[in-house]
Parts: sequence; C-alpha cells; structure tokens
Amino acid sequence: MPLNNLDNYKYWRDEKLKHVISCVESCIVEIINPYKLTTAEKDKIQHLCCYNNFALFEIKPQDDYVDAITQINHQVGLIDYDQHLYAQNNGLSYITQSNDKKQSEFIPYTDKEISWHTDGYYNAIYNQVRAFSLFCVYPAATGGVNQWIDPQMVYLLLREENADVVMALSNPQAMSIPEHKVDGYVMRAQSTGPIFFIDEQSAELYMRYTQRKKNIEFLDSSEIKQAIALLDDLLGASTPYHFEYTMSAKQGLICNNILHNRSAFVDDLEQPRLLLRGRYFNRVYRYNSKYD
Ligand SMILES: [Fe+2]
Repeated sequence: MPLNNLDNYKYWRDEKLKHVISCVESCIVEIINPYKLTTAEKDKIQHLCCYNNFALFEIKPQDDYVDAITQINHQVGLIDYDQHLYAQNNGLSYITQSNDKKQSEFIPYTDKEISWHTDGYYNAIYNQVRAFSLFCVYPAATGGVNQWIDPQMVYLLLREENADVVMALSNPQAMSIPEHKVDGYVMRAQSTGPIFFIDEQSAELYMRYTQRKKNIEFLDSSEIKQAIALLDDLLGASTPYHFEYTMSAKQGLICNNILHNRSAFVDDLEQPRLLLRGRYFNRVYRYNSKYD
C-alpha cells in the first residue's frame, strides 16, 4: 500500500489503531501441542501478527525444542529460513554466551546489552528478514529483558507528529552498512537503503534500523540527522505501544521483524541463558477471518 497517498495512509492508520493491543498478557497464546496447533491457537497468533506484528506463546515441556519450534513456525507460515553463519538445524540458532573467539565477536553471543534494531538490517534490500522467532529454553539468572515496539507503530507516531520525519527516513540512501571483509574476502556486500520502506514482496511497511554507531553511516543531511534523533527519542520514550518482557523458560515470540533490544544479563553457571532464534524471508501467514 503506497502510504504517500494521504487517503491510503489515513485508512491504514485507522485500521492499525482500531486493532492495536497494548497489554502484553493479551498477546500470549498458550499452545497445547506444538506439533498440531488448534485453529484457535493458530488464528490468535496470526491475528496478533497481522495487527500488532508479534505474538508471544508458551508451550509445555518437550523432548526436542528445536523440532517443536520448527513445527510451530511452519504452521504459521515461517518456512523460508535464513541459513546464516551460525544457524543450525532448520535454520535455528542457539543464542547463548559463546567461548568461541570468532562467534563471541558477534554481540548476540555475549552477555552484553543490545540496542534497538531490526534483525538483518545489514541485508540487501531484496533479501530482507521479514520475520523472526525467539524461544527461551533457559532464561538468565538476572537480566536479559527484551523491549520491543512494532515499527509500523513507530512510523505512525512519527508521521502524526511530523510527516517530514518519515519522509526523511524513507530516503533510499538513508542508511548504509559498509561491506564486511575477512582476510580480503567480501563476506557481505555494502547495504544501502531506506529506514522505512514498503516491502515489494508483502506490500507491507517495513523498517531496517540499528542504533549501533559502529560501521553505520547515515546520509549526510540535516533532515536525516534530525529525523534519526527524533526516532531515537521515541524509541527511548515510554508509549502504550512499547513492550517490556522477560521470557521465562518455554515461552517464545513470533514476529514480523519488530524493533527490539535486550538488556545485559548474568548467567546461572549451571544453566546458561539459551534462546533459539529463527530468521525468515517471509512473513507470518496473513490472518483471514470472516468475522473481523
Ligand atoms: Fe535481534
């Protein structure tokens, strides 16, 4: 939907505000059997992901969590997974502190905080991460709190305040991540693109963004610098659309690549924090209800 048309935007905004949920408890779906979701469970996950871009869920103890999560994701449409560097079976990565020197250079595999970002913000624009899932096998002893906000709601809030801000953030040159080279080989090409954009494949409004300051270049214009300052102010603020939650064991998140962060944590040495993460090139299946 081209949001530069004012009528389209107003319709989209009103639909979004009509369905938005700001109570985290209302976003948790209890799953009885991960291998066969009931229609009600599947509908609720899809409904939440359609209007809020995320759903939380919890499951009973399982013998094989990789298999159980793969099955849940599959049933809600998360199929086209990203087989990236540290992804293992079925595209799921074990997010835990790593002793491996190379792996621990990547912040997810440490106990450090991670600032606001969308996943795969460094990917080429034609290769966007459109959804990801996180599942908590073991939480940290303390910390490891996630905050998140639907990027579409960020767009809406910024645009309601000042349409020029979202226009600046939609500049096709707004954010660049230089190429990643190892021993002279290009592991990842330079990625230049907008912060807000309409994804061609899904026709949905998406966002690629990170608050990391290292290796990120923003277009050198005062409009973009001001827009990023306002975006960062909004992310750091507290609105009814910001969520904060620490996943317990056997709880998970499925989302259409929402903006999120993580606080630093301290591990229980007997049982270090372990999350399973999947990244997908497609979105959660669209919710189609006859009654909505
Ligand atoms: Fe992430």
